[in-house]
Amino acid sequence: MVVRRVDLRSDTVTKPTEVMRAAMATAEVDDDILGHDPTAFRFEAEMARIMGKEAALFVPSGTMGNLISVLVHCEIRGSEVILGDNSHIHVYENGGISTLGGVHPRTVKNNADGTMDIALIEAAIRNPPDAIYYPTTRLICLENTHANCGGRCISVEYTDRVGEIAKQHGLKLHIDGARIFNASVALGVPVHRLVEAADSVSVCLSKGLGAPVGSVIVGSKGFIAKAKRLRKTLGGSMRQVGVLCAAAYVGLQDNVGKLADDHKKTKMLADGLNLIKGLKVNMASVETNIIFFDIMEGVNILARNLTKVLEEHGVLIMPVSKLSIRVVLHHQISESDVHHALTCIQQAILKLQGVK
Ligand SMILES: *Cc1c(COP(=O)(O)O)cnc(C)c1O
Ligand SMILES: *[C@@H]1O[C@H](CO)[C@@H](O)[C@H](O)[C@H]1NC(C)=O
Ligand SMILES: *[C@@H]1O[C@H](CO)[C@@H](O)[C@H](O)[C@H]1NC(C)=O
Repeated sequence: MVVRRVDLRSDTVTKPTEVMRAAMATAEVDDDILGHDPTAFRFEAEMARIMGKEAALFVPSGTMGNLISVLVHCEIRGSEVILGDNSHIHVYENGGISTLGGVHPRTVKNNADGTMDIALIEAAIRNPPDAIYYPTTRLICLENTHANCGGRCISVEYTDRVGEIAKQHGLKLHIDGARIFNASVALGVPVHRLVEAADSVSVCLSKGLGAPVGSVIVGSKGFIAKAKRLRKTLGGSMRQVGVLCAAAYVGLQDNVGKLADDHKKTKMLADGLNLIKGLKVNMASVETNIIFFDIMEGVNILARNLTKVLEEHGVLIMPVSKLSIRVVLHHQISESDVHHALTCIQQAILKLQGVK
């Protein structure tokens, strides 16, 4: 018997659509390291235009996009970056900015909504800046949407405020915008406006946009020229990369428009989870396509046990702690998949409680 599969582990699990595969098959390509791949060139130009920046660069992953961006802004040894203690760069990127880049991280507490208190950011800026015992603050990083805070959106007002502080102190601002299009759609703010205050942004193509591989970084022409050199150093420059850029271009054209619908289905799933006895969702935190839900204390079911039973029924989720689970939607999850997943979760809870 074929088990119906609903994969809610992440929005990175999307498969390239037929249109994407066709675009990849027919992409006009050349050697991008020699600077001649027309499809990469066209994609990067379009991305720069959409983001309202001078230039863009395709990179193999979001991790490399963030690493390159931080290293370009902090090219002088002894540099320090201010970033959230729950940020992707700090938690999930192997500490690459320090192990590979020699950049010193200064963490500031992330609030539940993904922001850091403005006063705490200001207090973290090294002062006096010329004291001989301090590392030199050179960069502030924000994350939008904030993944570990449940896909929360960072507002344009907050971003502008942090941008002003950065300017006042001669610092740069980088946005880890892995899911910046989700934020743009959820906030109803054009993406170029949302990142106006940033000197650089990294954007994942392989998440909501549905491309199989890649991320892109945007910034000034000078920033991208340095980034291109660093990408080569890190082994991230590729030859006929247009094959990948062609898929990303289709994602940009076809899938940004589907994000609002993804967010609607996410709300539907969150509402449904909240109705299941023994589960709890903080609805205020559900702003885009990510849901964190909790198994209530008295229920006596562990997240990993629920995950295992659901897997047998083809529904894949990601346990994040003993009683907490993350699910993420994307354009290949239908409304009917959402209902199916809810039914399976309800049945799994009853089964684990020994109810027939
Ligand atoms: C996924 C993600 C990244 C890194 O992406 P990879 O392509 O997996 O390296 C960076 N930041 C955030 C917030 C992410 O969600
Ligand atoms: C982001 O938007 C994409 C595109 O619709 C969607 O597939 C994805 O689920 C969204 N992700 C989040 C975390 O909001
Ligand atoms: C979880 O599963 C393990 C092994 O499969 C089992 O020993 C344990 O009793 C289960 N715990 C709960 C609370 O469901």
